[in-house]
Amino acid sequence: MKIIITGAAGFIGSNLTKKLLADHHEVIGIDNFSYGNRYNISPFSENKLYSFIEADLVDPSVLKNLHADIIVHLASQKIPRYTNAYKTLEENGVLLKNIIKKCLDDKIKLVFASTSDVYGKNKDIPFHEGSDLVMGATTVKRWAYALSKMYAEQFIIATNEEFGLEYTIMRFFGSYGPNQNTTWWGGPQSVFIQNILEGKTLEIHGDGLQTRTFTYVDDTVQGIMKCMFHPASKNEIFNIASEPDEEVTIKDLAETIWRLMKGGDQKTDLKLIPYSTFGNYEDVRRRVPSIDKIKKMLGYIPAFHLEKGLEEAIRWQKEFNELTKKGIIETGK
Ligand SMILES: NC(=O)c1ccc[n+]([C@@H]2O[C@H](COP(=O)([O-])OP(=O)(O)OC[C@H]3O[C@@H](n4cnc5c(N)ncnc54)[C@H](O)[C@@H]3O)[C@@H](O)[C@H]2O)c1
Repeated sequence: MKIIITGAAGFIGSNLTKKLLADHHEVIGIDNFSYGNRYNISPFSENKLYSFIEADLVDPSVLKNLHADIIVHLASQKIPRYTNAYKTLEENGVLLKNIIKKCLDDKIKLVFASTSDVYGKNKDIPFHEGSDLVMGATTVKRWAYALSKMYAEQFIIATNEEFGLEYTIMRFFGSYGPNQNTTWWGGPQSVFIQNILEGKTLEIHGDGLQTRTFTYVDDTVQGIMKCMFHPASKNEIFNIASEPDEEVTIKDLAETIWRLMKGGDQKTDLKLIPYSTFGNYEDVRRRVPSIDKIKKMLGYIPAFHLEKGLEEAIRWQKEFNELTKKGIIETGK
């Protein structure tokens, strides 16, 4: 099959590309390198099944003369924790509409990257695809990202009803692994690994007892492939995550990474940073998925436990750090 991936130079996009090319699919990657980087896509440059377009998808003409069977839409603004709530809302909406128009014009399937953040403050765990999506006040800008994805999900479903758009919506739970962004953009595990590599204290936001359920990127990619190709994925929403018993507190995550990188003898050098430091911020206390639907309907089976996945992520990030320090790879643009 021929697949367009938006956000192809990013973390998930580059890992998905690798697997699709290995399975002999044709991939057209598009990215503006706002967050992704050339290093992530460098292994594919010689592959005849791969082509790459450096472009901003805000411009709909980028998609004009491209032909494919499926679009996997990953390009997105992500975390408005500190600044860019406006850009998150504005740009995610524009990209979505450009991609949907292309899918309708060419009668092709849209596979859309949503997020577990849409479950918001729902206390009723685990989160099923039909669970309530509970947002905080509109004055708390951290909800802008989740809202942009909720809007996208509703808009996709409405477009299916009005115009017959074929879609699958994927709600990712904290994916991590090789090619992850090494800042907060990539998540707490990236930052903790980076802090240890740079000899810095691990800074935990809040009391560290908030939980997440992290997913190794190979499992995320397995889930995406099921959502792309399995006939039962048509016009459905799926959580893509590890098993719910992989839930971990952020403090335990920091301590596990410390132990894996520094051994068990030294006490973890960590510091709690109160949320008030970030202004009007709200966190999600527990984030636990149900993956029953994707297991039953699409035959998804996550293969990675947290420690095994973290070992891979640490190995990759050490290597990446060394190459960056030596100036062998250039991150960003
Ligand atoms: N990584 C996770 O754990 C996670 C969790 C939930 C949801 N998601 C969603 O999955 C998708 C991929 O996430 P990721 O972690 O790979 O993020 P990422 O930032 O690594 O990748 C996104 C890519 O999109 C590109 N991009 C952004 N705006 C663009 C534009 N206007 N034109 C062209 N390219 C543009 C960026 O340069 C980047 O390479 C996103 O939609 C994100 O919201 C990710």
